[in-house]
Amino acid sequence: MSQAVTPKATSILSSDLPPGFDPTAEAAEKSLCFHGFWAWFVLLLLIAVCVFVVMWLLRQWIQGPIYRKANRIDGKVVIVTGCNTGIGKETVLELARRGAKIYMACRDPGRCEAARVEIVDRTRNQQLFNRTLDLGSLESVRNFVTRFKAEESRLDILINNAGIMACPRSLTADGFEQQFGVNHLGHFLLTNLLLDRLKQSSPSRIVVVSSAAHIFGKINRDDLMGERKYSKFFGAYSQSKLANILFTRKLSTLLKETNVTVNCCHPGVVRTELNRHFAGPNWMKNCLKVVSLGIFKTPRAGAQTSLRLALDPSLEKSTGGYYADCMRWPLVPWARNSETADWLWRESEKLVGLPPIEPPSTSTPQNGNGSSANGTGTGTGTGTSGPGHTNDTVETVVVNRS
Ligand SMILES: NC(=O)c1ccc[n+]([C@@H]2O[C@H](COP(=O)([O-])OP(=O)(O)OC[C@H]3O[C@@H](n4cnc5c(N)ncnc54)[C@H](OP(=O)(O)O)[C@@H]3O)[C@@H](O)[C@H]2O)c1
Repeated sequence: MSQAVTPKATSILSSDLPPGFDPTAEAAEKSLCFHGFWAWFVLLLLIAVCVFVVMWLLRQWIQGPIYRKANRIDGKVVIVTGCNTGIGKETVLELARRGAKIYMACRDPGRCEAARVEIVDRTRNQQLFNRTLDLGSLESVRNFVTRFKAEESRLDILINNAGIMACPRSLTADGFEQQFGVNHLGHFLLTNLLLDRLKQSSPSRIVVVSSAAHIFGKINRDDLMGERKYSKFFGAYSQSKLANILFTRKLSTLLKETNVTVNCCHPGVVRTELNRHFAGPNWMKNCLKVVSLGIFKTPRAGAQTSLRLALDPSLEKSTGGYYADCMRWPLVPWARNSETADWLWRESEKLVGLPPIEPPSTSTPQNGNGSSANGTGTGTGTGTSGPGHTNDTVETVVVNRS
């Protein structure tokens, strides 16, 4: 129960106060301070909430669209290269959920097995197989294909996902510059050797994981392997990713009548192990790690464009396209240059030891990435074949690649 303050008590209290002290004014001041504090607190809280919401929206936007169609691909045979980690692993996880039979083509059997066991565990799909493929060795590519063909009579989807970036200059087992050798030549040979299976299983699909870095790329005809000039950051990487696109476009013209489609994509900027070879100082690597937490895509988000290209029934007839964020994008002129694509194809055949798929071209060679008469085309590639060359000829040679 509250005690009433008697007039006597008040007079005792007032007499204790220093002269000139006004208790009411002090109470008003205190109240003002109190309200000022809460006003600031609420303002700062509002700012923090706004920043958080903007960051969250930005992050969601960066993650890009998700492939949401629920179509299953039970029993379809799929090969995914470089899938023990990163985008490849997420791609396999989703394809496994949808019932695919997947050959996980990785260079490190131990890491591959760990990923395979984890995905089997999460999806209950037992149809996942650990197979060794080192794209930096043509012998390993051939061995992988020989074993695969002995095991499987069909191949519905091939996903060329594996890649390395920004490593110090080194050579593959066959003496090719590492990034060009692994990212382009290894996949070039692999795809060519599997074309017969893909054609037998048509409609079938090839997905090539390239990169927006191709924009900075140049096919260095006089120095493909970076012997004279090597940029340890992105020079060799962007050349190899441009090669992925030129390969996709050339192959799409060669497969025109076959019901085998080939498309390429940029997965986004994704938080994976891709920068493991990044030769920068530690502080820069740490900064990159922190930044990547906020503004890079997750590997799951990074896999969505590959997944759409592999799965979407509405893309069954689409071929020769470049996709990012699940949408088709236009290409810069040097990535559409069919004369460069022809040259690269012939050069790649020689380097990996495949017989020419086409008769020698009569077109005048041009240097680098400059546009040719064909370079501004839409990718139908009608200018790529030599005189008298028909699709039948291409078909016959393609089937006999292995
Ligand atoms: N992350 C991005 O921001 C980004 C952006 C644009 C494009 N990409 C492209 O996306 C693809 C996947 O990259 P990621 O980001 O998922 O990188 P990641 O986490 O480093 O995965 C790359 C995969 O490729 C494998 N690989 C490397 N060299 C190989 C070889 N010689 N033979 C066979 N497999 C090999 C790696 O195997 P090990 O683990 O054994 O090394 C790994 O499984 C790459 O083609 C990359 O160029 C990525």
